[in-house]
Amino acid sequence: MVCLGNICRSPLAEGILQSKLNQSYIVDSAGTGNWHSGEKPDERSITVAARHGIDISNQRARQIKPNDFDCFDLILAMDSANYSDLLRLAGYAEQKAKIRMLTGSGVPDPYYGDLSDFENVFEILDRATDELIKELKLS
Ligand code: 4NP
Repeated sequence: MVCLGNICRSPLAEGILQSKLNQSYIVDSAGTGNWHSGEKPDERSITVAARHGIDISNQRARQIKPNDFDCFDLILAMDSANYSDLLRLAGYAEQKAKIRMLTGSGVPDPYYGDLSDFENVFEILDRATDELIKELKLS
């Protein structure tokens, strides 16, 4: 799960998807940028996740690295800017083929918004991960 800062959207996406899968699936998240590397998720993401019974407070932000394009089967971009950045960062066709948008129109960046924007992101991610699980028959 990849967004810009790895503190708002993708930590939620990671927590939500992992909560729906058994532990044999490795779900991780990263940012295309490195400004927040090492930080906990945004307090608003932690709060909204907790309201839904999901603890994301142990996650720490990191930037996507070349090796991720080999280690993971699927790399899901939160929005179209993340998507084009990922395509640019990927080395070759096999890596590029793993990259797609999590949703058709993208998950809106809630960073400059309020808690209701984060709740909206949670609901988008909840639906999108249900769709993904159904499509890929992950459970
Ligand atoms: P995220 O949100 O990409 O969902 O983690 C953002 C976090 C930080 C910034 C922008 C978006 N920022 O500009 O620092």
